[in-house]
Amino acid sequence: MNENLNQDKIIVIDFGSQVTKLIARRIREYSVLSEILTLKDLSKKSAFVNAKGIILSGGPSTVTKSSFPQLPKEVLNLGIPILGICYGLQLIVKNFKGKVKTQIKKREFGRANLIKKRNSILTKNFFKKNKSTVWMSHQDSVYKLPKGFIKIASTADSAMTIIENKKKKIYGIQFHPEVTHTSNGDTIFKNFIFDICRSKKQWKIGSEKKRIIKEIKETVKKEKVICALSGGVDSSVVALLIHKAIGKNLKCIMVDTGLMRKDEFKSSYKIFKNKYKLNVKIIDASKIYFKKLNNVIDPEKKRKIIGNLFIKLFEREARLFKNVKFLAQGTLYPDIIESRSTTGSKTSKIKSHHNVGGLPKKMNLKLIEPLKEFFKDEARKLGNSIGLVKIISNKHPFPGPGLAIRIVGNITAEKVKILQDADHIFIQELKNKNLYSKIWQAYAALLPVKTVGVMGDSRTYEYICLIRAVISEDGMTADYFNFPKNFLDEISNKIINGVKGINRVVYDITSKPPSTIELE
Ligand code: XMP
Repeated sequence: MNENLNQDKIIVIDFGSQVTKLIARRIREYSVLSEILTLKDLSKKSAFVNAKGIILSGGPSTVTKSSFPQLPKEVLNLGIPILGICYGLQLIVKNFKGKVKTQIKKREFGRANLIKKRNSILTKNFFKKNKSTVWMSHQDSVYKLPKGFIKIASTADSAMTIIENKKKKIYGIQFHPEVTHTSNGDTIFKNFIFDICRSKKQWKIGSEKKRIIKEIKETVKKEKVICALSGGVDSSVVALLIHKAIGKNLKCIMVDTGLMRKDEFKSSYKIFKNKYKLNVKIIDASKIYFKKLNNVIDPEKKRKIIGNLFIKLFEREARLFKNVKFLAQGTLYPDIIESRSTTGSKTSKIKSHHNVGGLPKKMNLKLIEPLKEFFKDEARKLGNSIGLVKIISNKHPFPGPGLAIRIVGNITAEKVKILQDADHIFIQELKNKNLYSKIWQAYAALLPVKTVGVMGDSRTYEYICLIRAVISEDGMTADYFNFPKNFLDEISNKIINGVKGINRVVYDITSKPPSTIELE
């Protein structure tokens, strides 16, 4: 990626950590280009062009075995500053003839207290009163420093938690500054990229936009692209980017499953058709969706039915367009890591995500995924930079199977209507109270139990509405949002008074893990 961009960059060498992309993301947040390379990529001549710094990621391997992923020796001698994180630190130590041991009794997982031993440029403004809380995930530790290195900070179980060789500009840290559980972790990156690497702030989402549009033009040439447009952030940004690149040769299909938020589908359609002049066709499929989902309780079955039906409808429609060679998808980076691990082993599947994954092979289409390198917030910024209306670019994520996985148990048109109304009240209230943008994702769900209530002098027997609001960085982990009590009081009232069919509102206070964001 980004080979054409002539600007300072930080190379992140990936040793298979699940959070390598977070490192790259932190750097980009400081307006410096970051590029993730695997060991294979390092042999390319262009690999280190414009590189101002190198970060070695963590990973599942251990340098204590006879064979482990090794760094080509020349990388350590390029004179480019290096920061090793976890496995990266251990690799540095191994290469400079220090010692690393597996120490099961001193392994550290989770939060640890770090104590400062010496000053370092890397830790400028990082410690508070010579202490910090950091996030650990290791059982190998450095127990003998290599020549030329000094210790900067320690925990009770790991003496060499931060080390440096100032002369060679090589630094190593055992903890993970890239995860939010490390307080002040960003400061480490900031110090590394600006004070040690002397990088300039040159990376802008605007330059990514130009690169992507250029790449789409070069890939697609005069061929046609088809795109499933939902009105969510990802597919909308993809459609607009491709439209900018190839204009009318992009054909968009919007399949209305009847399982979308209240009124949202039609209003998005109008925006694409009238404001952006996209070539877009809407298919009303709600009746067939309700029919197929009748009496389906199992969440995975629901997902499969919705996904397969979507493919069938989309395929049928797509065949009406002649000579289509490409299928555009709004795949984001977290979609990719949730379904496969960077080490090659298959991580256990929690839920089958609904997308149009079966289509490219079936229809002999090539995939275009302009957002697959990006996190959700970067996709939003890209959207803003190409003029996507805020109402779409700031929209919370919405799952492909829609309200079907927010109506626990059997789905009926009546339940969908009840839920749409409750959800609408909840989301509007978040917007009115300026809370919407503080929350990563919020929604209302309908539980499959009725309970007794009293309204006026009458007994009611109606559904429970569950409301969920989470803060998250990318949906991979999440915490529930801490509402002021009066907001919860008000929303409960508004939903019960405004929606016939609901007489009880509950707030979900679980984080992910152990729960997931959606109910099914
Ligand atoms: P979970 O429930 O897995 O959700 O914690 C994480 C994020 O993914 C969204 N989600 C989906 N998005 N198709 C999608 O496009 C799906 O099938 C799907 N299932 C969950 C969910 O809304 C949350 O943002």
